[in-house]
Amino acid sequence: MDATLISIFTSIIIAASIRFAVKLLNWAWLRPKNLEKCLRNQGINGNPYKIFIGDMKELIRFMKETQPKSIKISDDMAPHISPYYYQSIHKFGENSFIWFGPSPRLNITDPELIKEILSKPDVFRKPVPDLGSIIVGGLLFLEGEKWAKHRKIVTPAFNLHKLKNTLVAIRMSCSSMMHKWESLVCSNERSWEIDIWPYLQDLSGDMISRTAFGSSHEEGTRIFQLQKEQVKLSLQIMQLSFIPGWRFFPTKANRRFKAISKEIHSLLKGIVSKREKAMERGETVRDDLLGLLMKSNLQEIQEHGNKNMGMSIGDVIEECKLFYFAGSETTSNLLVWTMVLLSQYQEWQARAREEVFQILGKEEPTSEGLNHLKIVTMILQEVLRLYTPAPLMVRTTTETVKLKNMTLPAGVQMSLLIGQLHHNPKIWGDDSKEFKPERFSQGISGGTYIPFSSGPRICIGQNFAMIEAKTALAMILQRFSFEFSSSYKHSPFPIITLQPQYGAPLILHKL
Ligand code: HEM
Repeated sequence: MDATLISIFTSIIIAASIRFAVKLLNWAWLRPKNLEKCLRNQGINGNPYKIFIGDMKELIRFMKETQPKSIKISDDMAPHISPYYYQSIHKFGENSFIWFGPSPRLNITDPELIKEILSKPDVFRKPVPDLGSIIVGGLLFLEGEKWAKHRKIVTPAFNLHKLKNTLVAIRMSCSSMMHKWESLVCSNERSWEIDIWPYLQDLSGDMISRTAFGSSHEEGTRIFQLQKEQVKLSLQIMQLSFIPGWRFFPTKANRRFKAISKEIHSLLKGIVSKREKAMERGETVRDDLLGLLMKSNLQEIQEHGNKNMGMSIGDVIEECKLFYFAGSETTSNLLVWTMVLLSQYQEWQARAREEVFQILGKEEPTSEGLNHLKIVTMILQEVLRLYTPAPLMVRTTTETVKLKNMTLPAGVQMSLLIGQLHHNPKIWGDDSKEFKPERFSQGISGGTYIPFSSGPRICIGQNFAMIEAKTALAMILQRFSFEFSSSYKHSPFPIITLQPQYGAPLILHKL
């Protein structure tokens, strides 16, 4: 190489290094410090910025140290739902923020602000976590036109009328779980102890596998198990996920994560391609979620006579992955806290069972019957309020925006603290901490109750989730009564969703 080439090469390397260093300096220091100044000038407070990590170290330490071994069911749940955010509000007031790595996150609990943010998804976007978008793609992290296109195609698959057909699959999953419970005890015994938590987790995965993939549900179950492992790994990896490119470091967790992604993709590709071929052969498309989704996709393409108006096979695969991620842990959370609360509030368990027998007798639930289960519905709604499965949503600004009297530059994130909103005594009254399903006796009104979010990006699976939960609860109530085992410890633990840290050992009594 002659001297000129070497000097050109060296100059390029130096220029690239300087560019990288400036970008890094901006990302890790200048930008956060500017944002901090802007927020403090408006009276919004938080800890001083620490380079790279912000509050992350403290947040992780706080979560580990303050997570109680157990609390009383009647204790105030608010501090345990999003503990670090809760203590930040106590320290700095309602107008406060925390540092999520180099991004400031405002604590938002005001229902009007939450409503406004959720009603403008084009302005307040979702910050895409490095890992989240790999575990799941699909609607949850899409934005703009692509999101609108997917939402339009996926929506008919969750149509309440068509969902009736999924009841058979849901009932099958519930029966299978209860058979497992019964097989754990000798036939002459009437009462036994069981940790219901792992069974309810498997139940929600099994319900999605059967409703989404019909006869291919065994592959579906494998996908569910893999995704569960992946979520666990992601919690490990996520602690450093604010470092750009962290997930590409060849750590053991990252390698396993990648291998799982590949296996899930290949399993789903197998299922989806089989369906696509069957459709091409003109075979009748099954009315499971995947079938409905593919039908709706085909219809969209045919209406416009343009393949680009529909989703690709890759897109369909991503949506299927999302059904598990968005719909399994949330539903099992709802069910486990319902059984826990009904163990504590036996009078509500008795009222719910009486209603189930009155409306369904000993028959399996029908969609008509489910519609008449008023007490069961009120109980589930109250559980969704007190133990909101998705207690926190995050949004970000991509340009300077006005929000009430605040001016927020691009790059400010917002934590919408739905769990705190659902516990606010100013909204729910002095008895806001108490389990009182009767508060929903007149249905739901106002924008202060949003376990399924609100606005254009409201949970697409909310009706489906309620059908699952009502069916499962009704079938359990028909066969068993339940109460706490002496080993039960009440310890709700926020890991993405609100989970029972030590499981949920209950005593079941055969009816
Ligand atoms: C009790 C059960 C459930 C709860 C509490 C729940 C809650 C939520 C919430 C709060 C969001 C908004 C997230 C955000 O915007 O950041 C959401 C979105 C979503 N949920 Fe659910 N969900 C449940 C069950 C399900 C089920 C069973 C499915 C599907 C099988 C599902 C599919 C989705 C999808 C696809 C989105 C994204 C919608 C979009 O961005 O357009 N969810 N859910």
